[in-house]
Amino acid sequence: MSQLPMLSAVQIATDRVLLRKARDADRERLIELQTDPEVWAYLGGPRLREAVEQRLDAIGLANVTATPGVFVIADKATDDLIGTLVLSRRAADLPGHVTEGGEELELGYLLRRDAWGAGLAFEAATAALRAAADELPDQPVIIVTQTANERSLRLAVRLGFQPVSTFEQFDAAQTLGLASLHSFKSLNGRRRGHQDPF
Ligand SMILES: CC(C)(COP(=O)(O)OP(=O)(O)OC[C@H]1O[C@@H](n2cnc3c(N)ncnc32)[C@H](O)[C@@H]1OP(=O)(O)O)[C@@H](O)C(=O)NCCC(=O)NCCS
Repeated sequence: MSQLPMLSAVQIATDRVLLRKARDADRERLIELQTDPEVWAYLGGPRLREAVEQRLDAIGLANVTATPGVFVIADKATDDLIGTLVLSRRAADLPGHVTEGGEELELGYLLRRDAWGAGLAFEAATAALRAAADELPDQPVIIVTQTANERSLRLAVRLGFQPVSTFEQFDAAQTLGLASLHSFKSLNGRRRGHQDPF
């Protein structure tokens, strides 16, 4: 795991969602998320239920989100899991970087299919990026998503990421989106999509 500083928050609330750590009650909804073919269409295909169950049994629900920057996205009203959000470091040995040493902050998001189309991923991602911007020094933050994944690319652009390069990974064209972390600082309000990249 990278030694570079990470977002330390373990809980972040917005109007409609709560970013929090996983708990046992999330199990079934997390399995459904991991095994939904639509959710995994651009991520190499869904996981097999049996494999997901075995992994959860082996590591325990709490350990799914033990790493800093890894969250369950929960519906704030019901506390039900609606997705996952990861603000981690992109390993240097993967393709797709904007700095020489790699390990840039990288954002990833998955929402259950029934939560798409309501602005919830945008809300969750904005809150996580804002919290990271308020805590960490300015630095590049990237999103890597399949070029064919139009929904994900739309979200990236709406958040303020600019597509800066494409490359191949997992036998598919990937687009790398770039923003500067401090463009998400609280003071910058909700204006997104017009900043210069880092
Ligand atoms: C990528 C993904 C998270 C995007 O979810 P999403 O709900 O489309 O994203 P947003 O939160 O930005 O919501 C935007 C949509 O909500 C609509 N919306 C409705 N109410 C809204 C509100 N109050 N505020 C903002 N948007 C709202 C927008 O019009 C937009 O709909 P449209 O794209 O049909 O025009 C989701 O499709 C997903 O989980 N995909 C599978 C996993 C994946 O591929 N992840 C990417 C890996 S990096």
